[in-house]
Amino acid sequence: MKAVEIVKGVYWAGAIDWNIRDYHGYTLPGTTYNAYLIVGDKIALIDSAYPGFDSQIIERVSSIVDPKKIDYLIANHIEKDHSGTLPALTKMLPGVPIYCTENAVKGFSKHYDTAGWNFKVVTSGDTLSLGKGKTLAFLEAPLLHWPDSMFTYLAEEKILFPNDAFGQHIATSQRFDDEIGKEESLKQAQKFYGNLIIPLAPRVLKKLDEVGKLGLEIKIVAPSHGIIWRSYAGDILGSYVNWSRGVSKNKATIVYDTMHGSTDAMAKAFAEGLMEEGIEVKVCLLKDGKAEGTHRSNIVPEVLDSKAILVGSPTLQNQMYPTVADFMSYLKGLEPGKLGRKKIGFAFGSHGGHGGTIKLITDDLKAAGIEVVNDGIEVYYKPDRKEIERCTELGRELGRKIKSM
Ligand code: FEO
Repeated sequence: MKAVEIVKGVYWAGAIDWNIRDYHGYTLPGTTYNAYLIVGDKIALIDSAYPGFDSQIIERVSSIVDPKKIDYLIANHIEKDHSGTLPALTKMLPGVPIYCTENAVKGFSKHYDTAGWNFKVVTSGDTLSLGKGKTLAFLEAPLLHWPDSMFTYLAEEKILFPNDAFGQHIATSQRFDDEIGKEESLKQAQKFYGNLIIPLAPRVLKKLDEVGKLGLEIKIVAPSHGIIWRSYAGDILGSYVNWSRGVSKNKATIVYDTMHGSTDAMAKAFAEGLMEEGIEVKVCLLKDGKAEGTHRSNIVPEVLDSKAILVGSPTLQNQMYPTVADFMSYLKGLEPGKLGRKKIGFAFGSHGGHGGTIKLITDDLKAAGIEVVNDGIEVYYKPDRKEIERCTELGRELGRKIKSM
């Protein structure tokens, strides 16, 4: 296994996980755990990989230097997908200094037996010179992604190693953005942002502002998952600003499940009305695990991109359909309506008894920060022609509202 040179003396020495399909509720076609080897007079390794990937990291490092010659370990984040090789590395390199934040020291001791680990606590502005024009600077980045997180910056080469931020969950043979293309790189980054970073949006903006004030020029962004941004670094930084500010399109996302086709018919009638007003529409039938379904983590980027979201469900035992409840729980955690610009929406569904689901969905939409524009529409059993026309008209009305936002 080989490392890949990024610039002279700086290498990707990470692990490719071709097989992973679910990571805390996020469906993914594999991922990478990116570690970076920096070779000056001294040698540093930034981050590592999920437990079980030790040999990939060590072999890739071995393709450049003897791993026993590593002088410093830099631990930007304690989560196991970036620290799982530390037990093996600290065993191979007894007493090796581990540069990390104070919160990371606390976190590591809850994850691993850290007796004998030589932590060097850093705070923002601390630096570590490796010689040969390689100076690492550290920038604490609490909650991007966990309280312990920090960014490392290679000053002379203007490379930012921000760990999870700006990452994407993909497994590819390519290592760079220009190899898979700008559109695909940003699409994958948007999914990652939508599912992991939305609640951290204010911190993203604050951190980018701080980076700007420090005058740190960034030529390359080397995150801990996915491709390295060397041609489109400005695009991913700009996209994070836009996503965090809630910039979205004249677009609506309709999310629903259906028991006997009634809620499905309503969803499609809303879509027709929205389309008549020239609004881009994404229709997402749930049904997790079935071929025709859309996974919650693939819906979130559509919501991020949209000014409106409609959520529909049949009433089942006086509750939402389980798939809809799952989605709403996920959406409440992410709170996409609390980004810088408002999102609007409403609930819909069918029932064969007392109904009531739309009230539950409406409450959850509000909890997710969505501005609910009506009380929702619920039909008894099957929508008749008049009710379908009412749904289409509500779609048109919503379309006009979106265009005025
Ligand atoms: Fe990729 Fe927060 O770990």
